[in-house]
Amino acid sequence: MASFIKALPGNEERGRARGNGGPSWQRPFAMPLSENALSAPETAVVPAAGWGTRLRPLSDTIPKELLPLGRRVVLEHILVELATARLSRVVFVVSPAKESLIRNRFGSKSEGLCIDYALQSEMRGLGDAVLQTAPLLSGESGFFVALGDAVFVEAEPGAIARRLLTGSEPIAIAVQKVAKEKLSRYGVVKPIDSADIVRFTIDGIVEKPAPEDAPSDFAVAARYRLPATIFESLRAVVPDARGEIHLTGAIAALLTAGVPGVAVPLQSGEARHDIGNFETYWRAFVTFALADPEHGDGLRRFLEEVNP
Ligand code: UTP
Repeated sequence: MASFIKALPGNEERGRARGNGGPSWQRPFAMPLSENALSAPETAVVPAAGWGTRLRPLSDTIPKELLPLGRRVVLEHILVELATARLSRVVFVVSPAKESLIRNRFGSKSEGLCIDYALQSEMRGLGDAVLQTAPLLSGESGFFVALGDAVFVEAEPGAIARRLLTGSEPIAIAVQKVAKEKLSRYGVVKPIDSADIVRFTIDGIVEKPAPEDAPSDFAVAARYRLPATIFESLRAVVPDARGEIHLTGAIAALLTAGVPGVAVPLQSGEARHDIGNFETYWRAFVTFALADPEHGDGLRRFLEEVNP
């Protein structure tokens, strides 16, 4: 595992020396010491502690992350994705109310992955959820983040995660093109030059911009590769009016400090499904049910019958 220097004043010169003291992005945050620092992460953080208010009353009984999509529940699909992308360990972020349900289902090993749990006792946003995993990730140079309420349809499971894990940039973010009027629902990335179709460099990210202020039409798509320095950046984020700590704000600070970042767009044939509200959950369920090898065709015929 890579070791780290705390980002204390005066320590910056001891980071990976490159030219005159290393690149500027290393200076404000903790720095990797070894060449392993840029090796692919082994751990994925899966935040699953949120209230799920948009799915009430269903989510009062079943956490949205445990709702079925076809034959598997949401988190099982995510574990298959992460295992196929060759990650070896998952840290679920759970709330006191959801902890026993998620622990009882997944225990300490599932789909070949080692499973750990971090407790978020107050739901103070996605950034705060990620911050709760810091003690379980000490010594790791970076990690993957998969939102527990979003899954992908891919030609091959884990293809998007693998693309994010390939490459040496400490920050890699899955993005999807979104209609201008919908950009204000998402984090939106700022390309340095033009946005390439497969992978492009970014130097900023904005949370829920007004369409006229959006730096591109590429919205964040629920998967990230992040460096361990994100924890320090998260600790420095000022909570919003509702007391929530946004992951986007912490990533924006790293990008502004010069930490290299790329955006990795979804390709044709790839789709993201959010289990955040009833409209998107039902679409996701139907998509997975229609793909069922045994009952998919029958369901298709049934849908045509009821909606000729
Ligand atoms: P969302 O913001 O979509 O989930 O977070 P939410 O807060 O549960 O949604 P609503 O607004 O109440 O309906 C995306 C993922 O991050 C987790 C959620 O569980 C979800 O999987 N999350 C969110 C946390 O773990 N902690 C939080 O404080 C917020």
